[in-house]
Amino acid sequence: MDSRLIKSATLHALPPPERELSSPQEAFKTLENAYFLGYVPRPVVLICVGENPLAVAWHMPTNKDPFMYAVAISKENYSYKLVVEGSNFTVNFLPKDHLEDILIAGRVHGDKENKWELFKELKPIKALKVRALMVEQSLLVYECTQYRSVELPDHTLLIGRVELIHYKRGKLKPHKIRYPLHMGKGYFSTNCRLLKVNL
Ligand SMILES: Cc1cc2nc3c(=O)[nH]c(=O)nc-3n(C[C@H](O)[C@H](O)[C@H](O)COP(=O)(O)O)c2cc1C
Repeated sequence: MDSRLIKSATLHALPPPERELSSPQEAFKTLENAYFLGYVPRPVVLICVGENPLAVAWHMPTNKDPFMYAVAISKENYSYKLVVEGSNFTVNFLPKDHLEDILIAGRVHGDKENKWELFKELKPIKALKVRALMVEQSLLVYECTQYRSVELPDHTLLIGRVELIHYKRGKLKPHKIRYPLHMGKGYFSTNCRLLKVNL
């Protein structure tokens, strides 16, 4: 190839020279109403509210003893109605291999279609301690009764009291486990390189 062409291609590939910032704050751009644009990875779980599964990325532990777990449920979802009716729920942690079914749970509304019939692989089984379904393929399951719901403008923060935790023996090895991480919009990733530190 003509060396002049290579030289001009290389020049075009170079990033523009960095302008000096007058303050460190200048490096930040303000995002208005763009909660989804953070590209912050969050594990997606499948929540079964009673018998109805839905995908949820907004969830977290909130209390140690007794162990409590919180989930944000949009008021536009059919599951919200079930929460208001007082349904128990399960939090199902699935490996990334089931992303296709997780997306079905995250796009279809349970009052319109039976998602269990649409899933390629995921199967429902009865939870052991609470009146709800759980997913057979889960690696880890929290069975919850409702402790409290905090009504927010468009979501409810459902806080569950975890009545039972169960997991698949041998499958929760930190260096092996691969969860589906939602990064906002249509972006997903997974955890890959494990760092072990002494805490
Ligand atoms: C990756 C992903 C994450 C989601 N996270 C949440 C969430 O945290 N809370 C929520 O209410 N809906 C969330 N959704 C949307 C619901 O799963 C979706 O609206 C679902 O169809 C609701 O089902 P339902 O109407 O049967 O309750 C998410 C969807 C996807 C695909």
